[in-house]
Amino acid sequence: MSRTYYVTTPIYYVNDVPHIGHAYTTLAADVLARYKRLKGHEVFFLTGTDEHGQKVEKAANAAGETPLELADRVVKRFQALWEKLDISYSDFIRTTQERHKKGVSQFFSQVLDKGDIYLGEYEDWYCTPCETFWTETQLIDYKCPDCNRPTEKLKEESYFFRMSKYQERLLAHIEANPEFIQPKSKRNEILSFVREGLRDLSVSRTSFRWGIPVPGNDRHIIYVWFDALTNYITALGYPDEGGNFGKFWPVDVHLIGKDILRFHAVYWPTFLMAAGLPLPQKVFAHGWWTVEGQKMSKSLQNVVEPNMLIDKYGVDAVRYFLLREVPFGLDGDFSHTALVHRINSDLANDLGNLLNRSTAMINKYFDGIVQEPAAENDIDRAFRERTCDMVRQVEAHMDELAFSKALQAIWEVVSAGNKYIDETAPWTLAKDPALKPRLATVMYQMLESQRVVYCILSSFMPRTAAKGLGYLGWEGEATEAGLAWGGLATGTRITKAEPLFPRIEEQGE
Ligand code: MSP
Repeated sequence: MSRTYYVTTPIYYVNDVPHIGHAYTTLAADVLARYKRLKGHEVFFLTGTDEHGQKVEKAANAAGETPLELADRVVKRFQALWEKLDISYSDFIRTTQERHKKGVSQFFSQVLDKGDIYLGEYEDWYCTPCETFWTETQLIDYKCPDCNRPTEKLKEESYFFRMSKYQERLLAHIEANPEFIQPKSKRNEILSFVREGLRDLSVSRTSFRWGIPVPGNDRHIIYVWFDALTNYITALGYPDEGGNFGKFWPVDVHLIGKDILRFHAVYWPTFLMAAGLPLPQKVFAHGWWTVEGQKMSKSLQNVVEPNMLIDKYGVDAVRYFLLREVPFGLDGDFSHTALVHRINSDLANDLGNLLNRSTAMINKYFDGIVQEPAAENDIDRAFRERTCDMVRQVEAHMDELAFSKALQAIWEVVSAGNKYIDETAPWTLAKDPALKPRLATVMYQMLESQRVVYCILSSFMPRTAAKGLGYLGWEGEATEAGLAWGGLATGTRITKAEPLFPRIEEQGE
């Protein structure tokens, strides 16, 4: 039986159009999904859109549309971008779908019937843009501590979730499972938050209509986070225990941005505890992107539009840059200069050149046909071992979602490949017919190492990998077996490669 792997992205609000922040989480999930598939897992990769709540209701009013019209329009923008970014999701959930609404009502009822949701009255400081209530002590000059906008005191009848009841259990769970919340710095933040004490959580609103009504009391709309988080199980067919829910839950990893960690690492696990369901195995919070040193915002007009980047630089260059430039989990800065620099040095120079020179050489020396290699000398052996070792290193890095380190490990082998050619100097070997067997071995190591590189790169840069593998005579898709040394068969025809990444003129060059 194959192992299963379930990975999710947040579901994106439809009151905004997609930018690189959104593309980042989804891309990371895609690379993970592709990698796990390559390693033989049966993968379920979920993404989608968060379509309910006051913000969407307001944005729709402002645009003169119904909330659903707005959602229908914006959801297409997300789906088109995912297609363009080669995102291989298994399912796309919209919170306005019947399957989701049904599941949320069921989930709410289950917790209500258990007595962990009760009707009460709420009074606190409310920040409308953030849809968050704050206690007076949390406010800064009576302004929202998150967005610094004015708050207002609101009193309303509300259903409450007994989150306080689960404080000790959650704490014990986080302490006993160091892998549960990552990275570690974020885990510590959550630990101190939980230790300070959990208050019961308001889980319904009467102040707007756009959402899922509370079962049995439709004056109340289910609070947007209770609705949104549940997408991770409704997409699997919850409450139906069979099928995908039985197969894929609990999730292997929820990938999210650091701003929404509390919802995923505190609210969601306690909801699940109340419903008697297993907890996520891992919640990983990545950092935020700034742009040329500044916070990305509509008012600064510096929002980086992924479609534009892909049109300008190509999809795989963007995929590579976003995951290579910044360690996953830390904040990072986007700049065109940095992107162009990566394209020129890592992609055009290191990766592209290696493929060009080596496919040209085998065509020159052996009419493009892979020869039976002779015995390895020390340099050949070291280079082969280095390539095989890289595959193990990537496995360890991917386990920790260290995408940048994984790419770094791959590029070390690419550099080693260029160095190997310089050291073995095939052009010298070619001059002496007696050294033909030696030349054949050098050609073999040089090409075989790259075949392994492109196989493993298929998770990160699917198009580039397919091209590379095509030139190297590898039939079909990258496979797990293809990661092992020796896959390149004698007699394979190697095609002379076209440049994979043309150099881009750097500013000031
Ligand atoms: N709808 C909620 C999530 C519900 S999940 C059950 C939401 N949506 S969002 O559209 O506002 O944000 C989605 C994701 O985009 C978050 O993970 C957030 O961290 C990420 N990013 C938004 N701006 C970002 C950057 N500038 N940089 C990196 N990621 C950023 O929150």
